[in-house]
Amino acid sequence: MPAIGPMASENRDLGDAMRVFLSALIAAVLVAGAAGAADQDSATRAMYKDAKLHKLDIHGDNAVVEALVLRRHIPITYDYVASLMRAPNAFGAGPACIVCHSSADPTKSYRGMDLSTCRGMHAGPTEAPARPVIVPGKPEESLLVQMLRNNRMPLGVAFLHEIDSPAITAVKTWIDGGAKNDDQFTYTVLPLFGKAEEFGGAAACIECHSSFRDPPSFNEVNLTSYDAIMKGAFSRTRAKDGKPGIPIVIPGKAEDSPLYRRLTMNRMPPGRDPADPADHANVLLLERWIQQGAACE
Ligand code: HEC
Ligand code: HEC
Repeated sequence: MPAIGPMASENRDLGDAMRVFLSALIAAVLVAGAAGAADQDSATRAMYKDAKLHKLDIHGDNAVVEALVLRRHIPITYDYVASLMRAPNAFGAGPACIVCHSSADPTKSYRGMDLSTCRGMHAGPTEAPARPVIVPGKPEESLLVQMLRNNRMPLGVAFLHEIDSPAITAVKTWIDGGAKNDDQFTYTVLPLFGKAEEFGGAAACIECHSSFRDPPSFNEVNLTSYDAIMKGAFSRTRAKDGKPGIPIVIPGKAEDSPLYRRLTMNRMPPGRDPADPADHANVLLLERWIQQGAACE
């Protein structure tokens, strides 16, 4: 049939064109792959290249870790994290984490938390409230990191100050009840932030948290009114980027609210000097491990 001839040859042409195109594509991919492999510098060569361009500064606190490890995306292994859990003074003066957290049994280990194995780190505490301490990929949301960085409030409060005092319970009840701007808040909760003795005898909260400016108000936390509290932390700085403050009160959820957490959770290891910097080199490395997925292998 006359129609079939040209059709068939058209198809064959199309097929040839496709074959030529595909082999060209494969060749291009192979060449690019080979070039990529040849171009990829070793970590050491890349480091010296950057140094020549004055892109690396290894002088000053944490500079080596920042310039040679974090910025160069060196993977952090669980092996290193395991050694941190075992070492005294790893994040600041004090005994090793596994002295007090080495079993899931809450009669043998504080919070029934086992920091001596990777699985135990991922499992978190077994004692109520049982909560994860690691959120893979999100160091800033991980309790493990927060407890190494954050001081308990009021700054300088004794480690053993009770965690269910009437004042702390009042704050918890208010948040769990929806954190409303009601009489309970105005007459029972708000005045607590102005009295030093209510939270353990260190300075009153509003001595350090009474405006949106830091200094004098740490983390731009303002505890002088309902609206100010609900603006959260760093509201002034973040407003410059069009962002709201970081909430310190999550209505209905005291356990998740920084305001309540800061009243009940001690910085680790116990007895830390509140003036210790939050970003110890080993905290940065632990954060990077969590950011990279907190893998156990
Ligand atoms: C001397 C004992 C001791 C050492 C050492 C210690 N902790 Fe703790 N840890 C405690 C106690 C007691 C608690 C519970 C009371 C509290 O939160 O203050 C706790 C609570 C925690 C929690 C909170 C878990 C939760 O859900 O409440 C984390 C996280 C934590 N520790 C991490 C660490 C890390 C990381 C280290 C090592 C840098 C460490 N701890 C070293 C005694 C210790
Ligand atoms: C002597 C000063 C001082 C006093 C008093 C004080 N704080 Fe703080 N507060 C700080 C500092 C410093 C920080 C930030 C660094 C840190 O964690 O130590 C902070 C941080 C906070 C944060 C964390 C905000 C964020 O970034 O999420 C909260 C919440 C907070 N304080 C609540 C309180 C409460 C409630 C009281 C009273 C019980 C109180 N503070 C008393 C100095 C103080």
